Amino acid sequence: MQKFYLVWDESRHALGIPSIDAEHRGLMALVNELSELVAHGSDFEQARRQMEKILDFAADHFRREEALMRRHGFPGLEQHAVEHEKLLHKATTLMETYDPEHADRAVLITAFLTDCAENHILHEDRAISQYFAERGIRAD
Ligand SMILES: [Fe+2]
Ligand SMILES: [Fe+2]
Repeated sequence: MQKFYLVWDESRHALGIPSIDAEHRGLMALVNELSELVAHGSDFEQARRQMEKILDFAADHFRREEALMRRHGFPGLEQHAVEHEKLLHKATTLMETYDPEHADRAVLITAFLTDCAENHILHEDRAISQYFAERGIRAD
């Protein structure tokens, strides 16, 4: 079975905002754990619990990221928050289709989460660090 794996690359993923970088590493680690579980054919409940853990972590992370953007007047906040909402909604909708009869959907969900984590960090989240760098904002 194909394994979806995220590897932290300091030069590509690091935003230079320590708290956010730490959370992104944490998120990647959780997604990788799910990928391992799915690749090894773990039981349905175990994979489902891991997916819930990822969604909870992501929801908390999004809230903290939005608070940081708000605090520093990031102009793209509204749009970024909409993107967070969309990701959570899509992931939740996908998870609702995951049941014991459709256990094979775990692969699809894992692929989706892997892709989202990578792309959102590299594009949307990177815009935050660019803005901070331009304004000389130092956030921890
Ligand atoms: Fe974000
Ligand atoms: Fe983020």
